Amino acid sequence: MAPTVTVLISGRGSNLIALHEKAQGYRVGAVISNRADAAGLSWAASHGIPTQVVSRESFASLAQHKEALLEAVKSTSPDLVALAGFMMILQPEFVEAFSGRLVNIHPSLLPKYPGLDTHARALAAGDSKHGASVHFVGTGLDTGPLIAQAVVPVLAGDTEEALAARTLTEEHKLYPWVVKCVANGAVKLEGDAVVWEERGRREAQSQGFQIPE
Ligand code: GRF
Repeated sequence: MAPTVTVLISGRGSNLIALHEKAQGYRVGAVISNRADAAGLSWAASHGIPTQVVSRESFASLAQHKEALLEAVKSTSPDLVALAGFMMILQPEFVEAFSGRLVNIHPSLLPKYPGLDTHARALAAGDSKHGASVHFVGTGLDTGPLIAQAVVPVLAGDTEEALAARTLTEEHKLYPWVVKCVANGAVKLEGDAVVWEERGRREAQSQGFQIPE
């Protein structure tokens, strides 16, 4: 059986769709959202993928909400957990429970621009390059060891929307590829270090993705 991936979303779910449609050597086994109105949830349900909602309103405290989220993810028995536009910071217990098996995609060349408005910030800074990063998840906002990046040019006259769209196209290629590599062991987390096997390095090069030295 292919390794299963539980995907956590809060919104439209375009990376979820890419993870499902481009899955190689893994399977999206479940989708969990902290928002009942996330568009990606109805897409998942209509594609026969089991869904769960764990919303903040259902719990008296943030701590209880985070505890319930961890239990929901554990209930899906995933091999890997992929955050895809999931707008919550996970508690250390969650990060620990899935250490080496928990990844996130972020629309910037981390460590630049953690948090929101990444495209506008890259434009405002006059950057010539922008892109997306996939990393193992740490306990801070968009922190944790970097696995791979896709770089896009910033073009003269770019708007935030144009740059976001160019970046998103790359996200949809980068994320399924990285998840495949984590699933098949081509890349691993050892302590705090990301260790790539040679086969993964070669693939990164042929696909035009950057991996840390
Ligand atoms: C993506 O840009 C992702 O990198 C970021 O949030 C956005 C989610 O978009 N973390 P979608 O829900 O996958 O369409």
